[in-house]
Amino acid sequence: MAEIEGLHAENAEQIEALRIKYLSKKGAISALMNDFRTVAPEQKREIGQKLNALKTAATDKLEALKNQYQQTDHIDDSIDLTRPAYPDEVGTRHPLSLVKQEIIDIFARLGFSIAEGPEVEDDWHVYGALNFADDHPARDMQDTFFIQQNPIVVLRSHTSSVQVRTMGQQKPPIRVVCPGRVYRNEAISARAHCFFHQVEGLYIDKNVSFADLKQVLLQFAREMFGPDTQIRLRPSYFPFTEPSAEMDVSCTLCKGKGCSMCKGSGWLEILGCGMVDPNVLEASGIDSKEYTGYAFGMGVERIANLKYRVKDLRLFSENDQRFLDEFEAAH
Ligand code: DAH
Repeated sequence: MAEIEGLHAENAEQIEALRIKYLSKKGAISALMNDFRTVAPEQKREIGQKLNALKTAATDKLEALKNQYQQTDHIDDSIDLTRPAYPDEVGTRHPLSLVKQEIIDIFARLGFSIAEGPEVEDDWHVYGALNFADDHPARDMQDTFFIQQNPIVVLRSHTSSVQVRTMGQQKPPIRVVCPGRVYRNEAISARAHCFFHQVEGLYIDKNVSFADLKQVLLQFAREMFGPDTQIRLRPSYFPFTEPSAEMDVSCTLCKGKGCSMCKGSGWLEILGCGMVDPNVLEASGIDSKEYTGYAFGMGVERIANLKYRVKDLRLFSENDQRFLDEFEAAH
């Protein structure tokens, strides 16, 4: 009896083997039943009862094993159900989106709103209204992707075109940042791509001065690269600003001491800027005697490179999951 109660099986074959061993015609219990004939009549009652109890116990036990097996049979042993579940994979933002958003957020806090414009543009918005002479080299086939020749339609080569669109749509005071993708006909390498991203800024009001520009850019640099960041402005030339400057920030790696990233200079160039040329205001119907303004433009990839030390520009457009996953913590 104890033997019957201690039986166990792990699958259907083992249960069947037990049934054959104990309950089949040639099984152990049937053999005992056969031997029953030889039992003395005075013992028949007692032994008969025990035999019946044994048979019932064996039948019940096999039934119980069958039930247990049926409940667990469909479960694949190779799966550990006690393991914690994999966390849901949530997508991450692209590093360029993160940096673009950070730039926008900083300027939003300074009172700038967002303006956007088309990537496929006419010559007027990309060059003409921005005071580019007809023979300016930037219009050359070298830089500009032409979609159509007559009238000229191009892929915009800078987001300054959105300045022109905004001035055509809004009256001063105007205070906007214009994020977007731009295209240039460049050979693709670690340092150049045929498309990249810019954020343009434009502020037009009465009495806007170069000092205002400098203050806003200093604020931006400190929020973007840290409170100890220094800036310097070097004279430069852009057709649409006068005077024009390029802005450097103190090297984000060596903090100005000189290292390989800043080529020993302690400074990194990050944007172009200047006072909006009166010709540009007039071309969009804004009275340049009443209003002045400043503008600036920066490359999002450039800022992302400085912030995250990305060495190869192509990584931004290759969608390599290993690269993109590195920015998960930056959210
Ligand atoms: N549009 C220039 C470029 O693509 C960047 C730039 C420079 C924009 C000076 C500006 C500016 O608004 O004032 O290189």
